[in-house]
Amino acid sequence: MRKKVTVVGAGQVGGTTALQIFQRGYADVVLTDIVEGLPQGKALDILESGPIIGSNAQIVGTNGYEETANSDLVVITSGVARKPGMSRDDLLFTNMDIIGAVTREIVRYSPNCIIVTVTNPLDAMTQHAYEVSGLPKQRVIGQSGILDTARFRTFLAQELNVSIRDVQAYVLGGHGDTMVPLVHYTTVGSVPVTELLPKDTLERIVQRTRDGGAEIVGLLKTGSAFYAPAAAVAEMVDAILLDQHRILPCAAYLEGEYGISGLYSGVPVKLAAGGIEEIVSIKLSAEEEAMLKQSAAVVQELIDSMRKPRV
Ligand code: APR
Repeated sequence: MRKKVTVVGAGQVGGTTALQIFQRGYADVVLTDIVEGLPQGKALDILESGPIIGSNAQIVGTNGYEETANSDLVVITSGVARKPGMSRDDLLFTNMDIIGAVTREIVRYSPNCIIVTVTNPLDAMTQHAYEVSGLPKQRVIGQSGILDTARFRTFLAQELNVSIRDVQAYVLGGHGDTMVPLVHYTTVGSVPVTELLPKDTLERIVQRTRDGGAEIVGLLKTGSAFYAPAAAVAEMVDAILLDQHRILPCAAYLEGEYGISGLYSGVPVKLAAGGIEEIVSIKLSAEEEAMLKQSAAVVQELIDSMRKPRV
């Protein structure tokens, strides 16, 4: 029997994620959104690609949650992007309300699912989904590190003119300006990248990685990245639903690991059928550890303002 995946939000990220999962063929997909016709139209369009690409999977669009019942995995992409005149807190509270409402519906219909979140600000939204859902921490996971790492690997492969397949790297920490690319663990064909590129080139690439989302927003002007984010989600869905035991950087709820407690942050995890099977420990340099703590402090600030009573 095929697995069942729900994608909440049929916008750029949600639509592309639904397409990626449908193309793999091992899971049926339900796409849901508040905009009437949008999920139905995108789902039908994707379904009609089935005969061409050879996918027998089913995909339906809906404005409700009944069709999502008993999903194995739910991807949350619903939310708003920042618009002129909106403060960071406006975005935080708007998306917090959306994530809260959506999560309640998800667990009502799929109490045994695994949730993968994409909505920004990613770490704070994942924490909110975790708290609202009541699910075990292993089953609420944020997508950010795979995307940030993919950007880092892309820029390194371009610089060195090598295949992206031979660039191994991890970007940890929060999904934002304070993300932590682990330069000294980065290898190209098993050679440390620090032996292949001068310090200033590496610093430039690290900075471009940190600004990776903003670079796309600057080019698109009307929205943010969606092809690479959707590919990153699909990699997590594969790891979980195909029980692959992949070690991937994801936002996970930490309880003392990496010296961080009671907070979501990007760390390497082992992803398999039950969600996060293990938080993988890597020995960080003192500088990386400090950067990770700084990144966590920024997420903690957002969590604190989410918990304050609103006026
Ligand atoms: N329930 C379901 N869908 C909702 C809800 C809700 N309560 N509120 C908003 N949506 C839908 C919108 O109708 C829209 O179709 O979420 C979708 C968001 O899509 P886009 O605006 O295209 O945004 P997208 O580029 O997909 O980004 C979504 O992912 O990467 C992050 O920062 C990004 O937080 C953003 C999210």
